[in-house]
Amino acid sequence: MNPAPPVVVSGVSKTFQRARDRSPVEALKDVSLNLRANTFVTLLGPSGCGKTTLLRMINGLIKPDSGQVLVFGEPPKPGPRIGFVFQSFRLIPWLTVRNNVGFGLSLQGVDQGEKNDRVEYYLKLVGLSRFADVYPHELSGGMKQRAALARALVTEPEILLMDEPFASLDAQVRELMQMEMMRLWSERKSIVLFVTHSVDEAVIMADQIVLMGPRPGRIVETIDVTLPRPRWDAEIRMRRDFVELRGYLWNRIREMVMRDPSSDFYTGESDSI
Ligand SMILES: Nc1ncnc2c1ncn2[C@@H]1O[C@H](COP(=O)(O)OP(=O)(O)OP(=O)(O)O)[C@@H](O)[C@H]1O
Ligand SMILES: [Mg+2]
Repeated sequence: MNPAPPVVVSGVSKTFQRARDRSPVEALKDVSLNLRANTFVTLLGPSGCGKTTLLRMINGLIKPDSGQVLVFGEPPKPGPRIGFVFQSFRLIPWLTVRNNVGFGLSLQGVDQGEKNDRVEYYLKLVGLSRFADVYPHELSGGMKQRAALARALVTEPEILLMDEPFASLDAQVRELMQMEMMRLWSERKSIVLFVTHSVDEAVIMADQIVLMGPRPGRIVETIDVTLPRPRWDAEIRMRRDFVELRGYLWNRIREMVMRDPSSDFYTGESDSI
């Protein structure tokens, strides 16, 4: 018998209440997902379809109303085996960039010499060595995001949950970071669950794309991506299978948004979905 996958999400539902009128929001409905070892999974879907909620559930920050999440065979709890890059960066304002990045290693009791080496390595990787001694408020949005990324990578977790980690980077830095992330991951494989709104980014990085839809938040399709790696040269975007997959995903997302009455782009259109 095969061992259970490291992350098993089975039949999970979660309903929130809107603060405004206490009306219910079905953030996740009957979501099931397995994350296998050494796989890079991207989570794609329109705003409000429950991507962040799913990540927070896998990290143990919120509990499902029904269904079950198991991480390494147990209910999840935040800790060093799971790294989290939050959609909002959540840097600690009174610590310098260097100390923000090293914070998790201090908690783990890693010795000072190794801690310094690892912090320097990851600061360099995200291009922030020169800003190691400044405080978060002195950084641009993109720099804060890179600091948050270094902070999550530095503990070298077995599972890395990344909530739109490149969203506030400019286009060039974003591509560089995609390349670095893929290089790093190919050298030291782990489970990555990576949320993005960019269809190109989802295709370029993933072994598997999980497409989610809103109201209720659910998984609508899971697609294995078999494009050869590495994928960082520009030709990949010209391959026929890349273009077709990209077009397919775009259409699915467009349909979902146009069919969603609460979306600004609602047209009532009801293509098959
Ligand atoms: N703590 C909460 N209280 C009330 N409603 C919530 C809460 N957290 C999330 N929601 C609602 O649940 C739904 C899913 O939210 P979630 O943040 O998971 O979506 P998302 O897919 O990450 O969206 P985005 O792409 O905009 O980040 C949304 O309608 C959101 O308003
Ligand atoms: Mg989100």
